[in-house]
Amino acid sequence: MSEARKILVTSALPYANGSIHLGHMLEYIQTDMWVRFQKLRGNQCIYVCADDAHGSAIMLRAEKEGITPEQLIDNVKAEHTADFADFGVDFDNYHSTHSEENRELSAAIYLKLRDAGHIATRSVTQYFDPEKGMFLADRFIKGTCPKCATPDQYGDNCEKCGATYEPTELKDPRSAISGAVPVLKDSKHFFFKLPEFEAMLKQWTRGGALQDAVANKLAEWLDSGLHEWDISRDAPYFGFEIPDEPGKYFYVWLDAPIGYMASFKNLCSRRPDLDFDAFWNQDSSAELYHFIGKDIVNFHALFWPAMLEGAGLRKPTAVNVHGYLTVNGQKMSKSRGTFIKARTYLDHLNPEYLRYYYAAKLGRGVDDLDLNLEDFVQKVNSDLIGKVVNIASRCAGFIHKGNAGVLVASNAAPELTEAFKAAAPSIAQAYETRDFARAMREIMGLADRANAWIADKAPWSLNKQEGKQEEVQAICAQAINLFRQLVIFLKPVLPNLASDAEKFLNVEPLRWDDHQTQLADHQLNPFSALLTRIEPAKIEAMTEASKEDLAAAEATNQPAGNGELVKEPIAAEIAFDAFAAVDLRVALIEKCEFVEGADKLLRLSLDIGDAKRNVFSGIKSAYPDPSKLEGRLTLYVANLAARKMKFGVSEGMVLAAGPGGEEIYLLSPDSGAKPGQRVK
Ligand code: 2FM
Ligand code: ZN
Repeated sequence: MSEARKILVTSALPYANGSIHLGHMLEYIQTDMWVRFQKLRGNQCIYVCADDAHGSAIMLRAEKEGITPEQLIDNVKAEHTADFADFGVDFDNYHSTHSEENRELSAAIYLKLRDAGHIATRSVTQYFDPEKGMFLADRFIKGTCPKCATPDQYGDNCEKCGATYEPTELKDPRSAISGAVPVLKDSKHFFFKLPEFEAMLKQWTRGGALQDAVANKLAEWLDSGLHEWDISRDAPYFGFEIPDEPGKYFYVWLDAPIGYMASFKNLCSRRPDLDFDAFWNQDSSAELYHFIGKDIVNFHALFWPAMLEGAGLRKPTAVNVHGYLTVNGQKMSKSRGTFIKARTYLDHLNPEYLRYYYAAKLGRGVDDLDLNLEDFVQKVNSDLIGKVVNIASRCAGFIHKGNAGVLVASNAAPELTEAFKAAAPSIAQAYETRDFARAMREIMGLADRANAWIADKAPWSLNKQEGKQEEVQAICAQAINLFRQLVIFLKPVLPNLASDAEKFLNVEPLRWDDHQTQLADHQLNPFSALLTRIEPAKIEAMTEASKEDLAAAEATNQPAGNGELVKEPIAAEIAFDAFAAVDLRVALIEKCEFVEGADKLLRLSLDIGDAKRNVFSGIKSAYPDPSKLEGRLTLYVANLAARKMKFGVSEGMVLAAGPGGEEIYLLSPDSGAKPGQRVK
C-alpha cells in the first residue's frame, strides 16, 4: 500500500457574531465528508477551524449587548461548536482567531513581510464618526444613493439600483452607529504590496490549485492590475495591535486566514505526533486544502498565497470553492421561513438527511446548490430509507428469527459482491475529487442492484416453504453483506448511520478497505430502525419555526440569525409622506394567548375600533402570563401586508421596544386613547 498522505484541511472561519445557518452548513458538511473520506482511507488528515472573532462588527455588537467582545465571542463559540458537533462536523480542533497563537503568528508574518519590504504606509482620508470617535467602514455609513436617490443605502452600493460608489458620494451621509453626520479625517494606513506578487500569482492560480472557473475569474483581476491591500484599522478596533504601531490594528482579514495556522498550532501543542513546521515550511510535503465559498476567493487565492510567499511559507495545495445555497430556488428568505438556522433544523430533523442531500447535489464546480424542500423529502426517503436501510430491515429479521442472529457464510450472489468491490475505486475517485454527487449516484446504483436481487429471491416467500430455510439464511447473509459494503461507501456522508450499523453488525469501526471482506458465521446484534422517513410535517414545522425566529427578531430589533444588524442607528431621513403611509392605530388587546406549537409567539386579538384583527407577535419571552396583556391598549401597524403562518394569518403588527428576551416592552398610549384612533 502507498504511504499515508499528510493532509491539513480547513473550512472558512465563521464570524463570531451570528448563528450558523444552512448556507454555512453546506461548506462544513462538504469539508467534513471529504475529511472523513481521507481518514477512512487511512490518511493522516487534520481538519481545523476557528471562530473569526475580530473586527468592528463584533466590537459594536458586544457593546450593544452590554458585554465585552471576549464574552460575546465565548458565547458564540459555544453555540457554533454545539451546532457543528450536532451536524456531525468533526473538527480535530476548533479555535478562535482571538488567541495567543494567532497573535504571535500574525505578528511574526507581518514582521517578515515588513522586513522584506512588502509593507507600505500612506495617509488615507475616510469618514469618521465624531460622536463615537471612530472611523467608519463603508457598511457603517448610510445615506441617499447618488444615482437613484433611494434613502437609507450603505456606503458602497445601492440595494435599489445596484450602483457602486465611494461613501463620500452618498448624499446626506450618516453614521449607521450613532446617526451623527460623519466628517472626513486623515490617518496613516498600512498596505500589503500585493502587486509585487503578480507574477507568482499568475502562475500559482493556473497551476492546478483552483477550479477553472475560479482561475478564470481571477485572471480578470490579475490582468486588470492588482492594488495594494489596506491591512490596518485605527483604534477603537477589536483585534491585534500592529507591532511597533500603537493605536493601529490588523484588519480582520489579515489575521483571519492566519487563524487556520493558529488553530493547527494550538492542536500541535496537545498532539506531540504533529509537527507544525512540517506542515507549513516552504518545502513541506504535506497537503493543504482550504474549502471556501465563492464570495471570499480573492482573500484566499490572491492575498493569502501572496502573504505566505512573502513570509517564506508554503502555499495551499488547493483552494476548493463552492457556490451559494438557495432554498426552493431562491435566496434564503426570512419571511418565507427558508432562512433556516442550523439549530432550527436540528430541532426538527435528523442531520444525516441534510448531509446526504448536500452530498447528492454537490459536484466539483462552483454552481449554487438548491435545497428544494420537496425534493429533499422525496430523495432522502427514496434513497436512504427506500434503498439502503431497506436492505437491512427486510433481511435482518429472518436471521434473528431463523438462525438466532447468526449470519451464515454465504456466497449467494458472487457477481454482486464482485461488482460492489469493483465499484470501489471509482467511488473513491469521486470522493477524492469532491464529486460527491457522482459518488452518491454510483452507490445508489449498487443499492438498486442489491434490492432488485433481493426482490427476485424473495426470502419472505421462501421462508414460508418447507425445507428452504438454508436458502433464506444464505440470501439474507448475502444481503446484509451488501448492506455492509454500502455502509462503508456511505460512511463519510452518514457517520451516525454507519456507527449504528456497526453496532447492529457487531463489528469494529469500518474502514474503506473492509469493503473487500465479507462477514461469515458471525453473530449480529438486534436490528432497530436505522433511519426513519422524513415526515413532510417536520419540514413545515421547521419553516414555521424559522418564521417565528423572524417574528421574535422583529419584535426586538435583533438580527434574526446572521448578525447583520449591528445597531439601531437613526435611519436616514424620510419625507413626511413616507411616514404618513404607515397607518398606525391604537388597538385594544381583547385576548392574548399562547400558540400551541410555537415557542416564541403570542396570539393577540385586537379591537381596532371598527374591526377586529389577529396578530402573532414574537414577544412570548417577555410575557410569560399572556392574560396580563388583556385589556391593555397598544400601538398597531394597521396596513402592514398580512403574513401567512402555520397557525393562521398574522394581520399587521404591534409595536414594542427593547433588546429581546425578557426585555421587550410593548408600547401603550396614555389612558384615554380609544381603539381605532390614528397615531400621528
Ligand atoms: O466570510 C466570512 O465569513 C469570514 N469570516 C471567513 C474567514 S475565512 C478565513 F480566512 F479566516
Ligand atoms: Zn440607487
